[in-house]
Amino acid sequence: MNENRSAGAIETLIRARYPLIYVVSFEEGRVIRSLKCITTARKKELAAWTVTQGLALPDGSFITELKDPIKVLDYILQSAANGLFVLHDYHHYLNDPIVVRKLRDAAHALKTTRKNIIFLSPVLKVPVELEKEIAVIDYELPDKKEILEIIGKIRGSLENPGPACGPDEQDKIAETALGLTAEEAENVFAKSLVRKGAFDIAVILSEKEQIIRKSGVLEYCHVNESIQGVGGLDELKKWLVKRGKAFTPQAREFGLPEPRGILLLGIPGCGKSLSAKAIAGLWRLPLLKLDVGKVFSSYIGSSEENVRRAVRTAESIAPAILWLDEIEKGFSGLGSSGMTDGGTTARVFGAFLTWLQEKTSPVFVVATSNNVSQLPPELLRKGRFDEIFYVDLPSKEEREQIFGIHLEKRGRGAQNFDLCAAAAKTSGFSGSEIEEVVVCALYDAFDQGRELTQQHIITAAQAIIPLSQTMEEQIRAVREWAKLRARRASSIRWEEESAAVRQLEI
Ligand SMILES: Nc1ncnc2c1ncn2[C@@H]1O[C@H](COP(=O)(O)OP(=O)(O)OP(=O)(O)O)[C@@H](O)[C@H]1O
Ligand SMILES: [Mg+2]
Repeated sequence: MNENRSAGAIETLIRARYPLIYVVSFEEGRVIRSLKCITTARKKELAAWTVTQGLALPDGSFITELKDPIKVLDYILQSAANGLFVLHDYHHYLNDPIVVRKLRDAAHALKTTRKNIIFLSPVLKVPVELEKEIAVIDYELPDKKEILEIIGKIRGSLENPGPACGPDEQDKIAETALGLTAEEAENVFAKSLVRKGAFDIAVILSEKEQIIRKSGVLEYCHVNESIQGVGGLDELKKWLVKRGKAFTPQAREFGLPEPRGILLLGIPGCGKSLSAKAIAGLWRLPLLKLDVGKVFSSYIGSSEENVRRAVRTAESIAPAILWLDEIEKGFSGLGSSGMTDGGTTARVFGAFLTWLQEKTSPVFVVATSNNVSQLPPELLRKGRFDEIFYVDLPSKEEREQIFGIHLEKRGRGAQNFDLCAAAAKTSGFSGSEIEEVVVCALYDAFDQGRELTQQHIITAAQAIIPLSQTMEEQIRAVREWAKLRARRASSIRWEEESAAVRQLEI
């Protein structure tokens, strides 16, 4: 029996006589180990090729004349062996027309033999001509069981392994290292042992954050926000509390599907990004932020690869939240993608949608956007997200709450202020503008050498012109748009909108 699902999937492909298999992984050692298990179990031979050494045969000898990437294919085709031929980093040669032709021929020729070619690379690059011939396996990162084994191995190798930790703590350490390759996990554990003399969760986590950040497009966020720090948005909060329970095994047994994700749309500065962070706090799940803009930046690898890797990391850390902030930034060029970037944006978007719809891992996607006009309609179709919420300007009651939150956050008791009056003076203000009022008032008070008073708040509020005044038209358009397509994040309407509705009704 093989050690993990990916290895099992490779074995199935081999048994089903798939001649060309592409394994995507950074972990050559780990993949080769599992291939060896397969060859031993199936009485096959394993040969491995690199451009620097040529072909390494099972007996340990090398055929150095076969360094040439085309010659090695000829050799494999003629070989009478019953075996797996692993070609390391062969993606560099897959754009050569001769290689492509040879592989298409090989795909047919090898079908009737017991030979398989396995491409092993950290990146996936398959030319269109070979798409139908090559089966692709994304080799998964180590799961908790494998990481526990690594911990056991390291402990066993230590002269002084220190006090044994209980199974619960051991589990926590392993969970903290999820998302890393086996080698990265070993290094992180070693660093923790050197620095702290133990498996220290804080050290492991900070190392992991750095490793994830290095991948370019993902950021492992520290979450300090709680749902109590979000003012208003009662409908959204109710929904979140209910869905939070859906990650439990009991929910699976009950027959509930894994929650998929939500899309938060709305007016700038009204708490979309804040809510995304608060969800992670509420559900106590790790938060991974995907920089949608960077995915398409030509500086950091290919966009397809970036998305694949991000999704894979999120899946290996799951249950987790994958946060796509300002999603329109990535997908705005979609309509013209065919002309401007050879269709890359469209392809990446399509792959992402498929993943969103079909994913079975507990990765909850939180996407936010303040520009609905740039969102592709496919994203909004039923079945992509569990729910689409529209976040409007806060109502009077909500503004009271937001004032309270920001005063308390800065060490001022909300009971000392007339929040109702402050809210009445700030109709049309967004959450972030209310925060700005509190901060400006604090500056004024500090400047005068006095404690903050209600008057400071009122004066500061009068000095700020809210965005809703300058963007009236756009806001109305967003609201109209959302009416038919999204659910309101709060049950209480912004009063000016209510007034307008009332007028219409009269
Ligand atoms: N409902 C709210 N409750 C408390 N604070 C809020 C609320 N809305 C906004 N804020 C404050 O304003 C800041 C900015 O809000 P946030 O980043 O969540 O806005 P956003 O909706 O994501 O805007 P954008 O569309 O511009 O990204 C928050 O960090 C928070 O301090
Ligand atoms: Mg935001």
